Amino acid sequence: MIVEVHAGSPIRIPGACSRCPALVANRRRIVPGYGSSEARVLLVGEAPGYKGGDLTGVPFTRDRSGVRLQQVLIALALSEETDPRVERPRLHCFVTNIVRCNPPSNRTPSRTEMDNCLPYLWQELELLRPRIVVPVGGVAAQAIFPRLLGRPSPPITQAHAQVFHRDGVVIVPMRHPARSSNHELDRFVAVMRLLLPAVG
Ligand code: URA
Repeated sequence: MIVEVHAGSPIRIPGACSRCPALVANRRRIVPGYGSSEARVLLVGEAPGYKGGDLTGVPFTRDRSGVRLQQVLIALALSEETDPRVERPRLHCFVTNIVRCNPPSNRTPSRTEMDNCLPYLWQELELLRPRIVVPVGGVAAQAIFPRLLGRPSPPITQAHAQVFHRDGVVIVPMRHPARSSNHELDRFVAVMRLLLPAVG
C-alpha cells in the first residue's frame, strides 16, 4: 500500500512500514509528510502527537503544538487558512516529522527509531529540494544538523530563530511550539518574514 500526500505530491512512503516494533504496536496510523509538492519551506517535527497527527493523519494538527504551529504558518502566509484548527490545511509549505508513528506515551523516539525513519526524510528533502528547512524542536534539530550542516546542533534554546546556511539551503531552527513562548514564536516569524521574499 502506498500513502500519498495531498496536492499531487510525488512523495510516497510504504503504508505498512514495520521497522519499529514498539511504534507499530502503538500507532493508530502512519503519519506521512503533508503539504505542497512545490514547497520552498520544509518544517520537520519530532513525531506525530497522540492527540494530534496520530488521530488526524496530518502532522501538527489538532493538539496544542499543532494549533500553535498552524498559527505560525498562517502568520507567514505559508497556509491559506485563517483558522489554525483546520485539520487538512491548504499549505504552501511541507510539514513532516523525523519519525512518522506516535511513540508510546508520547515519549521521545529512540535513536534506532529515528535512524529507521530518517531515510523517508532524506527522500522528502531530495524530492522537494526546499530552500528553507525548519527543524521544529531540539530532537529534530539534533537529527538534521549533522546531515545538512556537518555539525551538531546547538541547544535549541540558543538555535531558535537563528539562521544557518550551507550549499544554498537555509536552516532556521524553531523551539518546539509546545514549549515556546508567544514572544519566541513572534521572533521566529519576524526572522522568517525577512527570509521568505528571497526564496519566492
Ligand atoms: N505533532 C507533530 O506532528 N510533531 C511534533 O513534533 C509534535 C506534534
